[in-house]
Amino acid sequence: MDQIYSRLFFACNCGYRYRSAYRANRIGHRANNSIALHTNYDYGNNVPPSVNYDRIECYPFKNMVEENCTASGCLWDSVNGYPNCYLPDSSVYGYEIDGELMNLPDEAGFKIDIRRRRNEDDSIIFSLYGGDIDQVTFEVNYYSDSTLSFAFYPKNEDRFGLRPPVTVTPPTTGVTEDIQYEVQLSSNEKGQPFNFQIIRKNSGAVIFDTSMGGLTIAEQFLMISTTLPTHYLYGFGENTHDTLLHDMNYRMWPIFSRGQAPGKRDVNAYGAQPFYMASEEDGSSHGVFLFNSHAMDVTTMPNPGITFRAIGGMLEFFVFLGPQPESVVKQYGDVIGRTFMPPYFALGFQLSRWGYKNTSEIRDAIDRTRAVEIPHDIQYVDIDYMDKRRDFTIDPVNFADLPALVDEVKRDGLKFGIILDPAIAHELFGYPPFSRGDKDKVFVQWANSTYKPDGQAANDNNLYGRVWPRRETAFPDFLKNATKQWWTEEIRLFHEEQKLNFDLLWIDMNEPSNFLTGTLLKCPPNRWDDPPYETMAANVGATGRLSEKTICMASLFGEEDEFLHYEVHSLYGHSHAMATQSAVRQVLAGKRSMVLSRSTFAGSGKYAGHWLGDNYSTWKQMANSIIGMVEFNMFNIPYVGPDICGFNLNAEEEMCERWMELGAFYPFSRNHNSFLFKDQDPGEWPDTVAVSSLKALNIRYRLLPYLYTLFYDSHTVGGTVARPLYHEYPMDINARSIDKQFMWGPALLISPVLQPGETSVEVYLPEDVWYDYYTGIRITASGSNTFSAPRDYINLHLRGGYILPAQKPALNTMISRNNNFELLVPLDDNNYAIGKLFWDDGESVNTIEDGLYQINTFEFSGETLNIKVEKGSGDAWGGISQLLDTIQFMGWSSEPAKISVNGADVETTLYEYNETSKNLFLFYKFSMNEDYVVEFR
Ligand code: NOJ
Repeated sequence: MDQIYSRLFFACNCGYRYRSAYRANRIGHRANNSIALHTNYDYGNNVPPSVNYDRIECYPFKNMVEENCTASGCLWDSVNGYPNCYLPDSSVYGYEIDGELMNLPDEAGFKIDIRRRRNEDDSIIFSLYGGDIDQVTFEVNYYSDSTLSFAFYPKNEDRFGLRPPVTVTPPTTGVTEDIQYEVQLSSNEKGQPFNFQIIRKNSGAVIFDTSMGGLTIAEQFLMISTTLPTHYLYGFGENTHDTLLHDMNYRMWPIFSRGQAPGKRDVNAYGAQPFYMASEEDGSSHGVFLFNSHAMDVTTMPNPGITFRAIGGMLEFFVFLGPQPESVVKQYGDVIGRTFMPPYFALGFQLSRWGYKNTSEIRDAIDRTRAVEIPHDIQYVDIDYMDKRRDFTIDPVNFADLPALVDEVKRDGLKFGIILDPAIAHELFGYPPFSRGDKDKVFVQWANSTYKPDGQAANDNNLYGRVWPRRETAFPDFLKNATKQWWTEEIRLFHEEQKLNFDLLWIDMNEPSNFLTGTLLKCPPNRWDDPPYETMAANVGATGRLSEKTICMASLFGEEDEFLHYEVHSLYGHSHAMATQSAVRQVLAGKRSMVLSRSTFAGSGKYAGHWLGDNYSTWKQMANSIIGMVEFNMFNIPYVGPDICGFNLNAEEEMCERWMELGAFYPFSRNHNSFLFKDQDPGEWPDTVAVSSLKALNIRYRLLPYLYTLFYDSHTVGGTVARPLYHEYPMDINARSIDKQFMWGPALLISPVLQPGETSVEVYLPEDVWYDYYTGIRITASGSNTFSAPRDYINLHLRGGYILPAQKPALNTMISRNNNFELLVPLDDNNYAIGKLFWDDGESVNTIEDGLYQINTFEFSGETLNIKVEKGSGDAWGGISQLLDTIQFMGWSSEPAKISVNGADVETTLYEYNETSKNLFLFYKFSMNEDYVVEFR
């Protein structure tokens, strides 16, 4: 048994195996003497001139006084606004070089051994939380010209054994002479302090720099700090931010999934997203991902800098050099996995509510929506449908005809989503999902049988909590194959036996959430539930422990029970989403579905979309939702949106009206709320909210072909769907902090009203060519402008140079998909525009892999529009049967004398030029399955 794990894990009498033993020797290390791209930098006394007051606090939360602080080895200096008890610099605290530098084969990186810093008498320096690991290897892997990783792991240890059980796929292209970065060590001389920098070669920007010190690698405490080259920092999640840009003044953010509603400061919400992006001085961006699933916190520093503190696993970081913000997101997506391809119907508007008392109330909501002609694609049913709130059951009284209702509404093209929670009611008799699962040993076990509550049967080691059902609940461990099979089987049985033809699954409470941890579920004191450093994640709720609102850290997960919940807590939702996606694919064989998950981890976008949880019906949360939404896009989970009009509190009319207008532009657009409050579907206010919603949603539906194409790009090559302005305008300093507006891809700018009583809105237009979406008229102003925004109107602007495929809207996508296509062509200053359409049947699985799709490209240059079927003529999959019948050019200087299509003149009745708006409309009918050259004279 290796040193660390014999100390890190305790033995117990429950069949628990040591994880490192199980995973040992999977992957060995290789080394040779090829050249690596690293040099040494010279900091003289090892303190870069910039550190000033950039202090790494010694013991956050301990409220140290001077005496205890200095007695512990830390420094004391009381300066307002800065940590008073802080670490000495890296000449005193941290690690030093302890070996020769070894290159990895093929110039793929290097490694070097380091050891803890010594005092003058050669004794090891003081420890912060105990369990420090003296002998460590630092390894840098160059995966491509833009992606590298670095990791610290105990010398001679299998580093992959320390990784979270999540697949990452770093690029294998290797580096070329175009490599964007250089890694520099402080020294390679034995006994010298160890620090390193990652430098962007072309600008010299130091994007990661550990010279301020603080490096700690201990059994249950890992810490690293970096100086940043910029104050423009984005990301980390899932938390509520009031601004997209981070506050760099020693703000600490916990990262540890928790069933915590958004809105509360300083706590983590549902998911764990240890990723940030930073925008450098010259407009280049980089991204950094800490691949670790333990509880952690990150602290910003004003210098600027960041400190990471995690309580286990390995410090393994992936760094992405971009340099475009969108290329950072793509490079990150290459490593963690890109988004799933949503079915077309998932882009439609969706309605939900926790609190439909019976199927008639669902019918009423659907009818209200139809009566006001609001497009509607998905209807959900929440836990209300269940019998005693147990998964895989239907309330025999109020929801007995749910299967019939589903079939009935589906005839009109509506799709149905149902909720499933992970927690399973503990009922041995009369509730087969539990007994079958128990027999297959799918439920989470206590790590030590002495931890079980009194009275639990000797042969039952399940950890029971309490979620929705009236009795205790067990928690499936989705890291086990048996659990995945059981879950699939239960979903299949439910679907078949109840004849419940749902189209998608909404999975909730998978942080995992538990009610009354501390009272109903007691986690006995132990080093996992009460680690020496608890992180800010524990600084929450009544118990102030990591287990707050969830299950105990000392419980077992994994095929061989090789993980503690402590290690994989933040992967619960991720593994649940993976299991559910796989189940739904099998059960709805051949049909593309989607999964919506409350908790996520890095890479979850491949399996599920995400709603932002139990928000409040307030203007502030409406505004903050834009930040959450674009952040999740950055995390490669672009299928995201909040509960439109808010989950908690009664939605006020004007707010709901504005929120529906904004919500029409979330990639995932769903109105949902809680049973404690009034219905808030738009049909509740037929003369106001419904009217404005209809206008905005009709625009959404018109632009769905563009949105679908953005998802295709995100799925196949990566990048965001909805993005902040700075992703498109990284050189524009003002754009870097804009978070009340956002974009769909590169071409559509959305600027909602987020304040009560306002009938105008501040719109920031970066230096570029912009057109008003509604009139097609070019906007001459740039920078900040006040634009009129009556109650039924959301400001939308199109960017010159792009061609957006569109389609006439309809009551749902089943209908709209059959309408004729249109093109919106806002021209740039060079009379140029380009775009494309991705199209398939919208609902079969693997259409892309099987080549059953079509791509049309559109390019206008000078006087010619080229329309090309770039891929597929339609034969392979049925093809596009409808036509393209309207092309709207914006910024057209003067009426054309003649238009020809493939050489033949077009009748003048088929086009129309508007001198005032400078818009040219061409109403020629093009087949979507043919190529065309359209010339304008
Ligand atoms: C919590 C979810 O976040 C919410 O959307 C849902 O309505 C309730 N659970 C009830 O299932």
